[in-house]
Amino acid sequence: MPTLFGKRVLLGISAGIAAYKSAQLARLLKKAGCEVRVIMTEGAQAFITPLTLQALTGEQVRTSLLDPEAEAGMGHIELARWAELIFVAPATADLMARLAHGHADDLLTTLCLASEAECVMAPAMNQAMWRHPATQANVATLHTLGWRLLGPDGGEQACGDVGLGRMREPEALIAELAEAPAVRDAEALRITITAGPTHEALDPVRYLSNHSSGKMGYALAAAWARRGARVRLISGPVTLATPPNVERIDVTSASEMLAATEHAAAESDIFIGCAAVADYRAEHVAEHKLKKTDASETMTLTLVKNPDIVAEIAARSPRPLMIGFAAETRDVERYAHDKLTRKGMDMIVANDVSQAGLGFGADDNAALLLWRDGDDTDSQTLPPQPKTTLADAIVDRVLMLYAHRASTAHD
Ligand code: C5P
Repeated sequence: MPTLFGKRVLLGISAGIAAYKSAQLARLLKKAGCEVRVIMTEGAQAFITPLTLQALTGEQVRTSLLDPEAEAGMGHIELARWAELIFVAPATADLMARLAHGHADDLLTTLCLASEAECVMAPAMNQAMWRHPATQANVATLHTLGWRLLGPDGGEQACGDVGLGRMREPEALIAELAEAPAVRDAEALRITITAGPTHEALDPVRYLSNHSSGKMGYALAAAWARRGARVRLISGPVTLATPPNVERIDVTSASEMLAATEHAAAESDIFIGCAAVADYRAEHVAEHKLKKTDASETMTLTLVKNPDIVAEIAARSPRPLMIGFAAETRDVERYAHDKLTRKGMDMIVANDVSQAGLGFGADDNAALLLWRDGDDTDSQTLPPQPKTTLADAIVDRVLMLYAHRASTAHD
């Protein structure tokens, strides 16, 4: 394992049942040629003893920030500088929360904050804890802070639950550690993303809209930004925080979204239409609040079609690589394929929104990616997972398509 050989690794162990696997991790790191020093949180010692890790690494295991004897040997700041790689396994939900918020309330969090080493963690927790929006928000923050997350895996858990949350097996973790860390592989790219719903005013107090939360578009914006791209996010009304290093432009209606998009798209390499744009708007927006009348039990609104933003941008030349989304409740592939060609897109990300817990408003999603390869269509199925990790998988595929298009354009 050439990239691990000789590496100075700080193995951080926190208080999860998976801590018993950390002994094997320490052993495999040593076997791969690493210099290994172990830090355990107080809780971790309830699951595995420092003596076990000491025996495996041949080094004293550090457990406390306020240990005069240990500090006299190698002070914690010195230890933070010593490390080339900090690997936290298992990383509990609590530790992830503390790291996401920059805490330095024990030795491990202090070292992580004080170190400029490559940081990797292997999360492990109950599946509901992993899926909780608070944990997912921490995952997004940790990504933006430069942490690389390996796992968690799905399957049966120690508590009897089944789902995502198991710590990845030591052999697989070591193999992934030996791979190059996440690279800023989108550094030169300019990306425009539309996200969220649009509001189409009926009168000064009412509007037509839909249930889009904007989470998928925001997760994509965060993923591209993490990977170094210049991201412009054109957002309908949502309640989400702007991801770091993303330029956000707020709009309300489809017409406003199109106006903002036209300018941004002309300067972009890739355009991702993730917004759930309202298909229709009121023909006339009433100047004053529409009133109930006793004269009629019904009210008729005349709606006119909104511009199709993706189709309009796709019809231009030159134009960015065009990626659209399709939320479907049946015949997902057929409808998505139809939209891909009808709107002149290069790739479509299709979601089956009839599945409970996935799609609109949810934190998880699954997707079928369809893209054009000459006259053929290729596809990839992405299984249900948090929108944050799904975003990275989509970015991977878009980058491949972008590189492929660039190479064939030069042929
Ligand atoms: O036709 P449908 O609304 O299902 O198409 C979805 C795709 O088209 C999404 O990428 C969405 O952002 C885009 N769209 C758009 N402008 C519209 C309607 C949809 O850009 N008016």
